[in-house]
Amino acid sequence: MEIIIQPTPAAATQIAARLMVRLIQEKPAAVLGLATGGTMELLYRELVAKKLDWSKLTTFNLDEYVGISPMHPQSYHSFMWEKLFSHANVSIKNVHIPDGLAKDVPAACAHYEQKISAAGGIDLQLLGIGTDGHIGFNEPTSSLASRTRIKTLTPQTRKDNARFFDSQEEVPYHVITMGIGTILESRHCVLLAFGKNKARAIAEAVEGPITAMNPASALQLHRKVTVFLDEDAAAELKMRDYYRWVFEQKPDWQKV
Ligand code: F6R
Repeated sequence: MEIIIQPTPAAATQIAARLMVRLIQEKPAAVLGLATGGTMELLYRELVAKKLDWSKLTTFNLDEYVGISPMHPQSYHSFMWEKLFSHANVSIKNVHIPDGLAKDVPAACAHYEQKISAAGGIDLQLLGIGTDGHIGFNEPTSSLASRTRIKTLTPQTRKDNARFFDSQEEVPYHVITMGIGTILESRHCVLLAFGKNKARAIAEAVEGPITAMNPASALQLHRKVTVFLDEDAAAELKMRDYYRWVFEQKPDWQKV
């Protein structure tokens, strides 16, 4: 796992954006796994500003709320179109977001997995992290081998996400999310986390034991993970000075 600590979310996001630009330029038909949430907003703004060619890219979003329409302002469909897709020349047929209104949820989830496989798998999967260590919406105790399926949000995650809704009662209880097994199959996982409220989850995920109690800790099993943090999110990492040292000492060919 590579841990990149920067003074601010903006500085960390800029390097993450460079990494994505490089992939898109080297592989114009890459398959991207996308995330939503506050952490991604800056990154999508950066990517939009870079005016990249999205026409051949294929995207798969990690998750969507169950029971709200794609048109709902807080759906992840709306988020993606508002923050990214409407400002890029994406090809609609290549955009995939779980269907929160699917009548047959297990069948829709199996179909989502098939579409990821048919696209050749995910080249780069963007991830945020919940204060409880969730990635996608794989809440604590999710199977580390899980696939796309329905999950019930924890009361904490509903509370954390209430800031996007008019009231906490409006936050859905269920989501469809890629599983941890699905995420681990992507070829490169890129996790971003900013702010003090992520510090404990990050320390457990990076330096703690691999445990379903912190689903992000499963990333320790993945061979290529890059974690971008600001100082606040890195605050509880015991080896943070070492991660900084590693980043500073990188040979030129390894730099982003
Ligand atoms: C959203 C997702 C979630 C968020 C996480 C952090 O698609 O998969 O795991 O990344 O809840 O959300 P923010 O960035 O709002 O703190």
